[in-house]
Amino acid sequence: MSPTSTSTSASSDVLVIGGGIIGLVTAWRAAQRGLATAVVDPEPGGGAAEVAAGMLAAVTELHYGEQTLLGLNLASARRYPDFAAELTELTGRDLGYRRCGTLAVALDADDRAHLRELHALQQQSGLESQWLSGRECRRLEPMLAPGVRGGLRVDGDHQIDPRRLAGALVAACERTGVVFHRTWAERLAVVRDRAAGAVLADGTEAAAGQVVLAGGSLSGRLAGVPEDVLPPVRPVKGQVLRLTMPRRHGPFLSRTVRAVVRGSHVYLVPRASGELVVGATSEELGWDTTVTAGGVYELLRDAHELVPGITELPLTETRAGLRPGSPDNAPLLGPTGLDGLLLATGHYRNGVLLTPVTGDALAHVLVTGELPEEARPFTPKRFSPATALTEQPA
Ligand code: GLY
Repeated sequence: MSPTSTSTSASSDVLVIGGGIIGLVTAWRAAQRGLATAVVDPEPGGGAAEVAAGMLAAVTELHYGEQTLLGLNLASARRYPDFAAELTELTGRDLGYRRCGTLAVALDADDRAHLRELHALQQQSGLESQWLSGRECRRLEPMLAPGVRGGLRVDGDHQIDPRRLAGALVAACERTGVVFHRTWAERLAVVRDRAAGAVLADGTEAAAGQVVLAGGSLSGRLAGVPEDVLPPVRPVKGQVLRLTMPRRHGPFLSRTVRAVVRGSHVYLVPRASGELVVGATSEELGWDTTVTAGGVYELLRDAHELVPGITELPLTETRAGLRPGSPDNAPLLGPTGLDGLLLATGHYRNGVLLTPVTGDALAHVLVTGELPEEARPFTPKRFSPATALTEQPA
């Protein structure tokens, strides 16, 4: 080697670009299937999961026009108990997985009409949820404001601590032989019209048979990716607060409580550890991750309307993260129009929920070349110009 040369080389079957929870679960599952796998990320286990509340809310986050996404969300929710048990058994780590259920409440007549609509949609979709009067809501959660006008009890929407999940996935990858390149991917390497790895910021040329781009909101910015396969993801800012609940007789809150207040979502997620997560704003502000007085004020104001007692609690953290939004709010999973390049990104509001099914789907397609049935509607090719043309009405 010449004394001035700094480049080194590495090679694997699969190179995952992005070490957030989606990249990590992909790498772990791929390695379990016998593929030599590497992850490139300066800080594996970071990303949007560092800020996320970790609601597993397939039923309470249902929206009109998103029934296909609902199928994937439910498939992932069903896998959570086994997924969490397997990860805990492998790593010895507690993930903060709480099968606590969720209560979505209404504070005024408009909110109540909105919740009634959601209830009807849930019932049409065959989902379990139960309408409760305000009094019944307060019987379940005595800290709720006296003004709560009614609510939906959803016993199947749970929570996990995303920071613990991310840490456990790093440990699971290490135990399964995944190699970590703790640096940035500078550009995708393309050889003879095929993705062949990446050039890393530390000079490493990381060659790979297949490359998975799992860079969250940054996925659309990797140099070297041809324009027509660049994922159409954008950052959607969310500000989130963390408070500490008192340790005393009876829980402060025993389940996730959420509402839409003046058109904005607010949720309170109580962890077994005593942490209370209050989220989240939803702001289209590009790459801005500033925590603003206005964001904190709105979250506290809305959360206080639901649970007045929160103003007594210590405020321990304020953070902002970036959700990877996609044009149809659903993820992009699997092969792209460039051979050897796959995507696992665009999970928007459901990244934590979709972690198990994403890992399974990506491992399957990396080994067999085919997406499993439940993931096929989420092919990135739905956004490619050629596919759009063939779907035009005659
Ligand atoms: N899934 C909750 C959020 O994105 O704020």
